[in-house]
Amino acid sequence: MVLPIYTLGQPVLRKVAEDITPDYPNLSQLIQDMYDTLDRSEGIGLAAPQIGLSIRLVVINLDLLSEDMPEYKGYIHTFINAHIIEYDDTEKDSSEEGCLSLPGLHEKVVRPTRIHVQYLDENFQPHDEWVGGYLARVMQHEFDHLEGEVFTDHLTGLRKQLVKGKLNSLLKGNFSCNYKVKVRR
Ligand code: CO
Repeated sequence: MVLPIYTLGQPVLRKVAEDITPDYPNLSQLIQDMYDTLDRSEGIGLAAPQIGLSIRLVVINLDLLSEDMPEYKGYIHTFINAHIIEYDDTEKDSSEEGCLSLPGLHEKVVRPTRIHVQYLDENFQPHDEWVGGYLARVMQHEFDHLEGEVFTDHLTGLRKQLVKGKLNSLLKGNFSCNYKVKVRR
């Protein structure tokens, strides 16, 4: 089932999300709904706060990018109780990002190229790994949602000033997009 996506201005996007346990109600259906929602909006990642739930659950589908990045062919993964443990600050890069909760906004964001993450997969098996490449960027974007952050929080200086107007329009619900959203009225 495709769920509406909460857009900036919804308080849930600014909350730190909670870990869950395997008995979380209807978890497998919820994960399926998140993939359905991601497919419908043609996104590559979705965090539970974006569908109104303040829990540490993220789905990522990089298969959509695999024409340009063949290493991500078939890369479709679920992350439960996801946490970034450590950033490798020795190398950063800048790349354009967008967000289903901030329709119409695209900005270059500087991020570390490698991160140390811990999470559970959909079988609640623990994973502890260093991640690099484009996946590290997508994970940082999605896992930031679990901390109540969005990508525009990373902008500085002039870019930050320039997006202010667009953010205000978003907050007022003054935008259009081709998927279902839930705007705070
Ligand atoms: Co996002």
